[in-house]
Formats: sequence, C-alpha cells, structure tokens
Amino acid sequence: MFTRGLLDAPRRLLKVQVLSPLAVMPEHHKRGIDSALVRHGLKILAERAVPLVFLEGDPGYYSRFGFAPGSDQNFRKPSLRIPDGAFQALRLPEYEPWMTGTFVYADPFWRHDAVGLRDPSA
Ligand SMILES: CC(C)(COP(=O)(O)OP(=O)(O)OC[C@H]1O[C@@H](n2cnc3c(N)ncnc32)[C@H](O)[C@@H]1OP(=O)(O)O)[C@@H](O)C(=O)NCCC(=O)NCCS
Repeated sequence: MFTRGLLDAPRRLLKVQVLSPLAVMPEHHKRGIDSALVRHGLKILAERAVPLVFLEGDPGYYSRFGFAPGSDQNFRKPSLRIPDGAFQALRLPEYEPWMTGTFVYADPFWRHDAVGLRDPSA
C-alpha cells in the first residue's frame, strides 16, 4: 500500500508517499509478486509526479528498488525509534534539490502506533 505523507521542506510542506504496509501471503512468497507490485507502484507514482517515497524496512531488501538511507539524502526521520538504516527514501524523477527536511507520517500511523520500534524494557 502507498500512503500519503508530508516532507517538512524549507520552501513548503510537500506531499510525498510512503510504501507501507507491504506483505504477500506466505504461500505465495518468492514468486516475484512483491517485486512486481513495488516496481509497478513506483512507476505509477512517478507518472503522477510524486517526487519522493519513504519507508521503514530492511535495507537489504529495498535497495533492489533503489531505496537508500534517508539520512544520506538530507532527510530526517520522524521518530528516534526508527533505526537509522531502516529509514529509507527513493527519489523519483520529479525530485528537486530543495526537497529536504523532516518526513512526517499521516495521522493514522501515529494513532495506530505504527511508527518505529517500541522498547518495552525502556
Ligand atoms: C517481504 C515480502 C513482501 C516479499 O514478498 P515476495 O512476493 O516473496 O517477494 P519477491 O518474490 O518479489 O522477492 C523475494 C525475494 O526477496 C527476498 N527477501 C524477502 N525478505 C527479505 C529481507 N527481509 N531481506 C532481504 N531479502 C528479502 C527473498 O529472499 C527473495 O530473494 P530472491 O529474489 O533473491 O530469491 C514477503 O516476504 C512478506 O510478505 N513478508 C512479511 C511481511 C514483511 O516483512 N513486509 C515488509 C515489511 S518492511
């Protein structure tokens, strides 16, 4: 699923997208379903002039789609509870260099406490 988010950029609040959640039913794993869905989804977002896509996930997996650590691309994560390597971003063709800043999740992510990792022992 792609979900709306915001980038708190110097020039203005910018509409971006989040790739989350993402899952394929276990009995259908490893047939390329996820890769096909993600690549097709990113193509549609590029056609709709979306400049940036963010996600939280395993860099070993998402790098195959071009995602790279957000902090290396002048983006700040929205919670200290997101591991640095997990906070990733992909620049699409409409991206411009002024588009930097803090990524902000839409309200449902906060309401469902679906941001970052909790530490029950903290
Ligand atoms: C991740 C997931 C969506 C992949 O779906 P899929 O349809 O099996 O994916 P594909 O068939 O397109 O690709 C499978 C490839 O991804 C690899 N892969 C899956 N999870 C991985 C991970 N966490 N890290 C690195 N590689 C991973 C597989 O080893 C496989 O590699 P290969 O193509 O070299 O054999 C699926 O495993 C899933 O639903 N997992 C549970 C939910 C989840 O973890 N979602 C991601 C949340 S961040």
